[in-house]
This record gives sequence, C-alpha cells and structure tokens, in this order.
Amino acid sequence: MIIEGRVFYRGSVRELYLFIDGGVIKDIRLSIDKSQSPNIRFMDRGNIILPGFIDIHVHLRDFEQAYKEDFYTGTASAAAGGVTVVFDMPNTVPRNNRLSILQYRDSVADKKSVVDYGLYYGLPPNLDELFGFEDIAIGMKVYPDDLHSYKIDHISDVMIYNHAKDIVTVFHAEEPDGYISGDDSPSIEREGIKYIAGYTKSIGLPTHITHVTCRSFIFDAKNIYTSLTVDSTPHHIMLSSEDLKYPYGRVRPPLRDRECVESLVKELNGLIDIYATDHAPHTWEEKMDGFNGFPGLETAYNVLATLYNKGVLSLNRIVELYSTNPAIRFKLDNILGYIEVGYLANLTVVDLYSSVRVDPTKFFSKAKHSPFDGMKLYGRVISTFVRGVEVYNGEDITVKPGYGVNIKSFKRGFK
Ligand code: NCD
Ligand code: ZN
Ligand code: ZN
Repeated sequence: MIIEGRVFYRGSVRELYLFIDGGVIKDIRLSIDKSQSPNIRFMDRGNIILPGFIDIHVHLRDFEQAYKEDFYTGTASAAAGGVTVVFDMPNTVPRNNRLSILQYRDSVADKKSVVDYGLYYGLPPNLDELFGFEDIAIGMKVYPDDLHSYKIDHISDVMIYNHAKDIVTVFHAEEPDGYISGDDSPSIEREGIKYIAGYTKSIGLPTHITHVTCRSFIFDAKNIYTSLTVDSTPHHIMLSSEDLKYPYGRVRPPLRDRECVESLVKELNGLIDIYATDHAPHTWEEKMDGFNGFPGLETAYNVLATLYNKGVLSLNRIVELYSTNPAIRFKLDNILGYIEVGYLANLTVVDLYSSVRVDPTKFFSKAKHSPFDGMKLYGRVISTFVRGVEVYNGEDITVKPGYGVNIKSFKRGFK
C-alpha cells in the first residue's frame, strides 16, 4: 500500500508517499508514477500524518475489573484517540505481579486488543518472580503502597535486575501514608517525589516518575537527580482543583491550584519529557463514590491540539511528547516514534483546527464520562494506522479484536 499525504517528516510537514509492506515503511518518496501504482490511499491535504502516538500510562483493567474497561474497549478508545501503542498498568485484580499472571494477561490482551500494547509488571513479592518477565513486559510500575509492603533493599534488587534488562522502572511518587489516607495536600506528592529522586540517585539507577502535577516538583526532582524523566497528564495540565469538584474531580495525584496548572503547562516545552493520559476508567457510580481517576484516551489529542491552537505547543513538540520521547525512553526508537524507512507503519492522521464539544456518551471506553465533558477543544483524529492497517477510520474500529500485539514481540533488532 502507498499512503499519499502531508507527512510530519524529520521536523517539518511535506507532501510525501509512504510505501508500506508487511506493516513496515519500506520507502518514502517525493513523487511516484501513479499509472504504475494502483493501491494509493490519499489523505486529504487538510490533515497531517504523524508518527503514531504512544501512551505509556493506561489502565486497561480487564480481569475482575472488566466491568470498568477491558482490552477491547480500552484499545478501541486508544485507536479513536490516535494512540497506536498503549502501556497497560499492573494494579489489576488480581494484581499483575506474578509471572503466571503476566503471561495470562498477555494472552488476554493478545486476543482482544485492536492497537499494539505493552504491559507493565507490578513489583513482585520475591526475586524468583523476575526471571524472564522482561521478555513479556515493557516496564515495571512501583506504587506508593509498595514502599510500605516491601523493604527498600528488595526494591533496589529488583531495580538492579530491571536496569540490566533495559526495563524502565516507573514510580507513582507520593508519600505512602498520605497517599493511603487520601490526603490531597501538595506536600504528599512533593515529599514522595523528593524521596524517589534521592533514593534512585543513591543507587545510581535512572527512573521515570509518572503523572507529576506541578513545575516545582519536577524542578526539585531533576535538581536532585538529573537522570530522572517525568510525564504529566492532560487533566493536570488543563484543569485545576477549582474546575472539578468532589466527588468527580478525585484523582491521584490530586488536581492542583491554577498557579500550579499554569506552571505545569509551560513545562510541556521544558522539563516534561512525556505526555501520558493515566487513562483510569471507573463506572459513573464509582466516580460518585469518590473513586480516583478519569478516562483520557479519547480527549488526549484534543488537549494537545487545543494547546497548539493557543500557541503553547508546536507540532514538533506534540510529536516529541506523545510519540518520539515515549519510544526513546522505552528503547523502542528503532521501530517507533518516527516516520522513517524500516520503522513500523504506526501512523496517526490528524486535523489540527476543527473544534469539538467533548461528548463522553460517544466514547468507546466503558467509562462514558470525562473531566472535559462539554468543553470546546480542538483537533480531530481522522485515522489511526497500526503496522500499516487502518484500525480506526474516524468513526469506527475497522479491525477485529486481537489485531493488536505485544510490542515486545518486535523487541530490539527487528529492523
Ligand atoms: C489510578 C487507577 O484508577 O488505577 N487512579 C488514579 O487516580 N490515577 C491509579 C494510579 O494511577 O495511581
Ligand atoms: Zn498513579
Ligand atoms: Zn495510573
């Protein structure tokens, strides 16, 4: 197949022809002989073809919480948001921190997913549960309560193993007691982040801190340990604690004040390395009971496009935050994160300028609610391609459950 359109290629937008075969970009050309090329998919000049988005923080639930989301609805939600690869979090029921559960989770994901996926592994209770996990999982997630349940030496042993296997250890950094008691004060996160920064520096192992909510916390963390990377979420970048009230507005870490939000959004061009949704679906009843988290996949690009239209973000930076930098950080940048010959043909086709009124009743996610409900945002996902196959055409999912594969199956050396 050949895709013709305006392509984000090496930092600028050009009219190009992408030759795709076997899921891979085989050639990129400025012109072709159309009489020789029957199979051309033309993308309207008003749209731009981007390297496919990669979301490194998504809760696809499934298992016993499939009533909130499952691998089909969660990855359909991703496809509709232009996200070509999602990294699934391990705080499932049962928890994904045993090898047998990881293997089983991979088999469930493989049967149901419509975009490609990576799996996080939870901190395992003993080292025997580590050997070989790196062949299936893309990363490991450590939660604040893990710091209560396990000795720090155990966490260090696991991190040393991960480092040797090129596995990124990702921390939810909040002070454990405050986190468990549901304390919303910023100091809970500030202290949690300082602790993780100091601890990871002391063992000399770079790590990633997810869903950071305020500029000063990132500044502190990177000041302590320059090898740290961080991500921030759409809700923390756009919404303050005044915008969303209890119970719906509950999320960990909590929404912050306006000043914090404004400090954070500026760092999308600075200290923030990666943009990730923390897509955390719950039923409406659960939200009314104060459960933490929101679905985010189907509005994530709209938030970026809105910031583009406000002059805050360039197209270049959108691609870095939501495609290239995730690929680099998780060592997938030999197959993902760029539109280049030899790379997987994961492509997100977008319109930057049209406006939308957020209507969560239309979500593919099981969670039909949104922190952005009713807001006017910009941008539209026109089409999503995973390995050269269109999985979303702007309206519907166009592949069967099971099309998506574990991104680890391509691993290094795929090219
Ligand atoms: C997440 C969830 O619901 O699993 N909730 C949240 O508020 N972010 C857990 C988490 O990411 O910490
Ligand atoms: Zn978290
Ligand atoms: Zn999360």
